[in-house]
Amino acid sequence: MQISFSKKTRTFRLDTENSTYAMMIGPSGELRHLYYGASIAAGDDLTSFALRRDRAFSPYPEGLTSNDSLNIAALEYSAFGSGDFRNTAFRLRKENGTPVTSTVYKSHTIRKGKEPLPGLPASFAPAKTCETLEIVMEDSFSGVRIVLRYSVFDDSDVIARSVKVVNRTANPVRIEKLMSAQLDFDSMDRDMIYLQGKWARERQAARIALHPGMQGFRSARGSTGHQYNPGVVFADRSASERSGEAFGMLLLYSGSYTVEVEADEYESVRAMIGINEETFAWNLAKGEEFDSPETLLVFSGNGLGALSAQYHAFLMNHVIRSPWKHVRRPVLVNNWEATYFDFDDKKIYALAKCASSLGIEMLVLDDGWFGKRNDDRTSLGDWFVNTGKLGDLGKLVKKINRLGMKFGLWFEPEMISEESELYRKHPDWVLSVPGMRRSLGRSQMVLDMSRKEVVDYLFETIAGLLRSANIEYIKWDMNRNLTEIHSALLPPEQQGETAHRYVLGVYELHERLLNEFPNLLIEGCSGGGGRFDAGMLYYVPQIWCSDDTDAIERISIQLGTSLFYPSSTMGAHVSVCPNHQTGRTVSFRFRGDVALAGTFGYELDITSLGTAEQEQIREQIRRYHQFNDLIREGTFHRITEAFGQSDVAAWCWVSADRKEVLVTAVRKNDSPCSQAPVCRLRIPGLDPQRIYRMENSSFAMHGSTLMNAGINVSDDLRGSAVSVLYHLKAG
Ligand code: GLA
Repeated sequence: MQISFSKKTRTFRLDTENSTYAMMIGPSGELRHLYYGASIAAGDDLTSFALRRDRAFSPYPEGLTSNDSLNIAALEYSAFGSGDFRNTAFRLRKENGTPVTSTVYKSHTIRKGKEPLPGLPASFAPAKTCETLEIVMEDSFSGVRIVLRYSVFDDSDVIARSVKVVNRTANPVRIEKLMSAQLDFDSMDRDMIYLQGKWARERQAARIALHPGMQGFRSARGSTGHQYNPGVVFADRSASERSGEAFGMLLLYSGSYTVEVEADEYESVRAMIGINEETFAWNLAKGEEFDSPETLLVFSGNGLGALSAQYHAFLMNHVIRSPWKHVRRPVLVNNWEATYFDFDDKKIYALAKCASSLGIEMLVLDDGWFGKRNDDRTSLGDWFVNTGKLGDLGKLVKKINRLGMKFGLWFEPEMISEESELYRKHPDWVLSVPGMRRSLGRSQMVLDMSRKEVVDYLFETIAGLLRSANIEYIKWDMNRNLTEIHSALLPPEQQGETAHRYVLGVYELHERLLNEFPNLLIEGCSGGGGRFDAGMLYYVPQIWCSDDTDAIERISIQLGTSLFYPSSTMGAHVSVCPNHQTGRTVSFRFRGDVALAGTFGYELDITSLGTAEQEQIREQIRRYHQFNDLIREGTFHRITEAFGQSDVAAWCWVSADRKEVLVTAVRKNDSPCSQAPVCRLRIPGLDPQRIYRMENSSFAMHGSTLMNAGINVSDDLRGSAVSVLYHLKAG
């Protein structure tokens, strides 16, 4: 890992173990992008890559030629209104009303270490293991500074980027757009891969060819949303799991974001990721600074599998802070699908008692324990125990603890019901535009998290409960999107800040709770997996993947999620059949094998199960304890292509020393003659020389055979909704 600057060629180079990123200061002071890809030799003069020939009368900066036109250049962070007609990275409205900006290089620093971003999630590393480049660009008209930050790490190919705006002028400046990162590519001959979905069908991997014009996706929901995820990959058309070039951009942010991609008339492509400008504007007073969220770039020369592995390792080592990240999480039972709102302390205790006898380690009490909440129409915001239903919560927790079980509790902190004490007291704490009709979602409204007193109230109430009883886990839900984004407290010229301030408020509440309760295990959730992003993972080590627990549906949800996120972050449970979302019935074993690929638990009324299924729970928990260290810490590989969309899907985890591998293979559907006579799975990531033996079997093969010829799974995958695990060890 190294960052360098050549005075002679005015070129910056960022080198990670397997990639090089290069840019130079161009003829009019602009920052030109030269190269991003596989590592190239140090010392070569790369400036010729900046050369562009104009034949289309493009505008150019005074004193230069049309070959220097910004509109045909590959740029690092393009400015609005001064010769680049493509979609640009930022827009500042200045005192004279102009949004036209022309930024030129001013100075730079290269330093060991990396600073945190105030109020925002950001990657971290010990100072001696990373380096940061800061390039200061200045708007030649106003003197406003744009600081471009790049960090590289000695154990990763990730490059972390963010942008800071510094108002050194005497007047306020309005930031109307501020992307976190821009990547200009010379060619459009690539596919765009991204995660797309909906409620109960989150993060399905989509792959489309880039085409001329604007493309991309976004959220304007105030949070990440179920529909898309704030990450994108650009890969060779022929790139597969194990070959081809792939470039990733992953945003650390949990609010409205945008991925903007434009293929221009020269078939060059500009890709940008950052806060969605539709719900964003920020007034920067004299002397103030504003930080964009961070983006993680990755280049892989070895296909999508290696790109995912880079993201997984980086998120584990440099983004997730929770002390739980390297710890086997307690196997839990959640009462939601077991009881919905219909429970009391006796029912919950009975569930806990049965759970403890089966080896389950934590009882999570879901929605309905507070205020007067017996359905989803009331009481959000009233975070005090419904004693009529539960009696004394402290006593119940103690009784559950005495069974040897931990206790967890559900909250939906950001929400408020009209039918609540909180609303009666503080109607102005709701996001709404005065004089306009409000929108409801699941009968509820959204608290204005941009207000300090709202965050204070939530902290005191939630912390009060955590202090009052031994609550070791919380499920932090968020069950509707933001509408009428307007704060009763902010002046008109600052209303554009509300959505981002909301996200900052959510992050602050997390931070404050974790400061007081550093060992608290928080599981993120949002109507299932509606806020599964790398920003959240800075605060929580796991996120509920989806309200869809149907094991067939979960395959493509979990494999799609694995494009960016590690197995240890995916909340996955076994639930009842017929499944509550799909009505489908599959075997208990199949459900267990699929849920094993994430954090593990149960979401059904275990008290009503027969002895055979209860016995299977014991066996599944035994396997969870046997395999979870490997699943959590090993390198994850998708064995089959297509992210679980086809009938046979398989994945595996390989230990760091490559001596152990766990393979899961599933077949979703069988129909006559749909199966090829042979189904072979080639297992990646092994040591070719070693001999791998299967547990309780005479099976033994060299790594080279398993990697190249594979395992024939035809016999084991007969039928529909069937699964098999292969556990192999090398001596
Ligand atoms: C959301 C969550 C569920 C459950 C309910 C409770 O839908 O995703 O798991 O907690 O809310 O209302």
